[in-house]
Amino acid sequence: MVKFIWLSDPTFSLPRSKHFRSFGDLASAVLTDTSPTFAALFSMVAWSIWIRRNRLRERQHVWEVGKTVRRARDLLQEFWDVQERPTWPLVQRTEQKWAPPVAGIYKFNFDGAIFESSARAGLGVVVRDAEGMIIAALSQNIQLPSSVDLVEALAARRAILFAQELSIAHVVVKGDVLKVITALNNPKQNRTQWGHVIEDIKKASSCLQVCSFSMSIGGGGVIV
Ligand SMILES: *[C@@H]1O[C@H](CO)[C@@H](O)[C@H](O)[C@H]1NC(C)=O
Repeated sequence: MVKFIWLSDPTFSLPRSKHFRSFGDLASAVLTDTSPTFAALFSMVAWSIWIRRNRLRERQHVWEVGKTVRRARDLLQEFWDVQERPTWPLVQRTEQKWAPPVAGIYKFNFDGAIFESSARAGLGVVVRDAEGMIIAALSQNIQLPSSVDLVEALAARRAILFAQELSIAHVVVKGDVLKVITALNNPKQNRTQWGHVIEDIKKASSCLQVCSFSMSIGGGGVIV
């Protein structure tokens, strides 16, 4: 029965081509000599065989033998699906170079990230002093809003609120979504769908003594 399961899928032809003295030898060879993906599938199938045998012994319902590998793959996929990573921001952050703000002014970098499968979003803010030292940082998890740009605007708003919370009144605020930075620098009232967030930020920033909004990524992909 077990042999049938391992023979049912061509993926396992490699370990079958060698001779192992024990299951332990086979398992350690799989863990050291094969890819992590293969090792994961191998472990999941082995575990499924064990579970199926236990269920049979307990006279519980079991799946068809022929479906064991398929089922193991599905379980593994399910596991990988929840090991999610943020799929956003879209801007590549390679070869970033730090340019410190002028003395007395603090630099607030904000950023939004989206976690699609859990319908959540992350707002991040990093504050640096004139020497480039990180003096404060925060990240906040929120419910996923309707638009990607809105996540970025909410991150900008969080940055301004953070400045207020830290009693810092001289700031440069940097983000990497041009649309949002442009909207923040537009003196005209923003009447778009989420213009109220932009207006909120403008209003809050007018209470600071010095506040400017600009792009964090310069021409050559350099953070400024
Ligand atoms: C209003 O804000 C949105 C989002 O940032 C932007 O796309 C749009 O250009 C802004 N409009 C004005 C008039 O600033």
